[in-house]
Amino acid sequence: KQQTLAMIKPDAMEEHKDKILEEIHANGFAVVQQKELVQSKEAAEEFYTEHREKPFFSQLVEFMCSGPCMMLILDKENAIEDWRAIMGPTDPDEAKETFPNSLRARFGSDVLHNSVHGSSTEEYAEEEIRLIFGDISSDAELADDGETDTTVIGEPLNL
Ligand code: GTP
Ligand code: MG
Repeated sequence: KQQTLAMIKPDAMEEHKDKILEEIHANGFAVVQQKELVQSKEAAEEFYTEHREKPFFSQLVEFMCSGPCMMLILDKENAIEDWRAIMGPTDPDEAKETFPNSLRARFGSDVLHNSVHGSSTEEYAEEEIRLIFGDISSDAELADDGETDTTVIGEPLNL
């Protein structure tokens, strides 16, 4: 079993959250934890720190802080790669050409506003889960009996 950090980005929260959650469940992911929050500028900068030198970094940070997002820890075999495949390519225009059923093809509007995030490697998954949820996921790993607890935290938080 493997865990990944998935995010429904601010552009998709109002119109597409339910359909994205449906897709998550239809594809057999267990939702270990989920919460809605509004990221501070500092939190968004830290989350996407790998892109600090990119020309789009300030746009990206501003977008990520522009409203609530939903963070989810997804668990299943091959979760990282499978979730990335369901998201589709970064640019929704490319996604529409190559993976028309992907989330970004269906719900993204441009290369910045692309509706969802997913960790790209095991290292990033661990780091992002720790950043967003703290160290709680280590308990789930220790008690690895094949079951995962589903915790829903309904109140939007400020990071
Ligand atoms: P994430 O799952 O969000 O990390 O997307 P990704 O791994 O498919 O792409 P990447 O990590 O390279 O970029 C992170 C995010 O920055 C993307 O999801 C977009 O929101 C944004 N982004 C990426 N490339 C561009 C770009 O060329 N221009 C702009 N404006 N935004 C970009
Ligand atoms: Mg990325």
